[in-house]
Amino acid sequence: MEVKIFMKNIKVRAYCSSANLGPGFDIVAVALDAFYDEVEVSVKNGRGDIRVTLVEGPYSSRVDPEKNTAIEALKYIISKYDLKVDVELKIWKGIPVGLGLGSSGATAAASVKALSELLGAPSSIEELIEAAGEGERVSAGEPHYDNVSASVLGGLVLLYSTKPLRVASFKIGGCFVLGIPLVETPENKTKLMRSVLPREVELKKMVYNTSRLTALLVGLLTGDLETAGRGMEDIIVEAARAPLIPCYAKVKEEAFNAGALGVALSGAGPSIIALSKSKEEALIIASAMKKAYESCGLEAITKIAYPAPGAHVVEA
Ligand code: HSE
Repeated sequence: MEVKIFMKNIKVRAYCSSANLGPGFDIVAVALDAFYDEVEVSVKNGRGDIRVTLVEGPYSSRVDPEKNTAIEALKYIISKYDLKVDVELKIWKGIPVGLGLGSSGATAAASVKALSELLGAPSSIEELIEAAGEGERVSAGEPHYDNVSASVLGGLVLLYSTKPLRVASFKIGGCFVLGIPLVETPENKTKLMRSVLPREVELKKMVYNTSRLTALLVGLLTGDLETAGRGMEDIIVEAARAPLIPCYAKVKEEAFNAGALGVALSGAGPSIIALSKSKEEALIIASAMKKAYESCGLEAITKIAYPAPGAHVVEA
């Protein structure tokens, strides 16, 4: 496809995200303002070459410029739309990598959004998310769209169909606390954490989890945070992953003791996310989570975070 190049160079920011929120495996996520990535994308007429020429920022050391979610996502677009362009990427990595904060998804989301702003392709939000989700193959072995949807659209996202891809996004309230253990995780962590999941689920567990998901969504969508918090419980996916998460039980217990309304694994972990009503309460929960990590001999950081906007142009 011959493309008319509207602009040559653009910088897009995309925020981190927390997927699942307990029972919403692969279908629920929230974009959070705790961390963001920025990607500067330049295009010129060419043959579809994609090059990462700069990776900087506090978490740049864990980004492989040759093997990156952004590259996979852009390759997918270039091939799908047969775009006759070369693309150059400069990545500013502000999201911790491999810790369950949708880091790879945010880079892919920012890159795809940038290309779409520059070339007009992909033109629909669904196509954009589909392409960014393709990037997730690099770390997860298969595409999943929860993190990328949150980074693209912002707020709370609900994926209600994958074929065809359909996502709804909502502005929500609430104040979240992220407990982030500073541990090394393998490059294919998400793939690994998906490999431990059960292939089949007992009906009664399915019913219980569905009731939690309903509580989560009713609560978040009506602003009833107590109900939302009670909905952040997952006895299927999170239960299978919990034994692999450092200090999981202790951090969860102490977050609840400090007043958290709900606590869940953030994405595939190892970070843990708690919900609170206010910043004052969130600060108390954050301090309790940090002490819990210390009691396990782990260095950790905590962040108070609010729902963030979607990927957007910061410099054109
Ligand atoms: N929903 C995905 C998972 C998110 O839990 O595997 C991974 O970031």
